[in-house]
Amino acid sequence: MPRSILYVGDIREEIKLGNLENIPLRKAVEGRAELWVPDVERIYDAPVFYNPKMSLNRDLSIVALKVLSNRWDKKLFVYEPLGGIGVRAIRTLMEIPENVSHYLSNDINSLAISLGRKNAKTNAVNPEFTNQDARWQMAELRKHPLGFPSVIDLDPFGAPTPFLDAVSYGFSRESAVFVTATDMAPLCGVYPETCYVKYHGFSARVFSCHEFAVRILLQFIALTAARRGYGIHPILSFSTDHYVRAKVVLRKGKTWAKKATAKIGFAIVCPRCGETQVEELVDNNDVDEHLCPVSREKEALEKIGPIWLGDFFDHEFVKDMQGSVQSFDVGLDQKPRVAKLLKRIASEANMPIGFYRMDRLGKGKTGNLPPMTEIIEKLRVHGFKASLTHFHPQGIKTNASPDEVMSIVL
Ligand SMILES: C[S@@+](CC[C@H](N)C(=O)[O-])C[C@H]1O[C@@H](n2cnc3c(N)ncnc32)[C@H](O)[C@@H]1O
Ligand SMILES: [Zn+2]
Repeated sequence: MPRSILYVGDIREEIKLGNLENIPLRKAVEGRAELWVPDVERIYDAPVFYNPKMSLNRDLSIVALKVLSNRWDKKLFVYEPLGGIGVRAIRTLMEIPENVSHYLSNDINSLAISLGRKNAKTNAVNPEFTNQDARWQMAELRKHPLGFPSVIDLDPFGAPTPFLDAVSYGFSRESAVFVTATDMAPLCGVYPETCYVKYHGFSARVFSCHEFAVRILLQFIALTAARRGYGIHPILSFSTDHYVRAKVVLRKGKTWAKKATAKIGFAIVCPRCGETQVEELVDNNDVDEHLCPVSREKEALEKIGPIWLGDFFDHEFVKDMQGSVQSFDVGLDQKPRVAKLLKRIASEANMPIGFYRMDRLGKGKTGNLPPMTEIIEKLRVHGFKASLTHFHPQGIKTNASPDEVMSIVL
């Protein structure tokens, strides 16, 4: 029989705190927080997990929470089922106290909970820590005295998919879910079959794979939510460093669920030039090769998906985040990077799926490529939509065909 949990009092009695005595610790600063973290060469060798490189991920969550709280005009109950040493909880409570009513940080590792408590005390904040297997805890979340959480932040090692079904039991009418995936080898086409097994979508090794990784993750979230009667509305998704991240607002009701699942389909991509066509799930038009303007030969096309064909972010939401970033005087660990990433993502509004790599389209041509900003400008002058993309430094999103880009730009 699963352990009966949830009632703050009960949980506290259940925690058997891990012994920190033999764990080497060092001080670290992240955002506003001063933290004791494991003092190890390689983070994965540590008995508790803390990855300083994920501070950008945490920064963006804090900004998104602030914007959501302002939009919904309420303080948020945030739940982190895989909370590690509680750094997200502690930073959130320190950096946006006016936007959060309660933060529940859970981890299966009792040492992580001990360290979380120590750090919370040092920083004078009071998240609720629990020490459960998240998969069972999530299914019981409705028993929490505060009701359902407003935001669930799922930040696992590797794939989030084994936890998503359980997470969906915590969805409610006005709520959101934030999801990290770090298993980029399957998502980016190194192991397409593994990607299918985990995410029910085939990936491919194309240069635009990071965008498709985001879209494969979004389609998985959309289908999981739909099973529970929710539609998803992505507010911010991105790819950076060694992971992808999706933040979506949930909309309750069959109509929303249907609307969201109608946005799932396939992308058909030329690995050489990047030309991308999309195909809805209901459409059986098979396209398996095209005459590639780069190679001048017939190129076999890659069929990727099912993927999310809708927007991967909400432009208004990202604009609000950009405004909000400026309001953080202290706090946010990597403010310039956060601002830069949000600016680039905002510029991708209303652009088609997929992108070209200018260094690939330009291959074989003599002379240097014009600067990327000039390329964008030229395409716009010719009446095409065009933008850079955060998915790749040489990437260009446009509704022009590869031939049109090459004849205008090169
Ligand atoms: C990537 S770390 C979390 C990092 C944290 N979110 C942060 O921002 O610092 C993943 C955590 O999940 C915990 N974990 C793994 N399986 C779990 C389970 N079934 N239930 C609860 N926690 C689990 C691990 O102990 C680890 O601390
Ligand atoms: Zn091609």
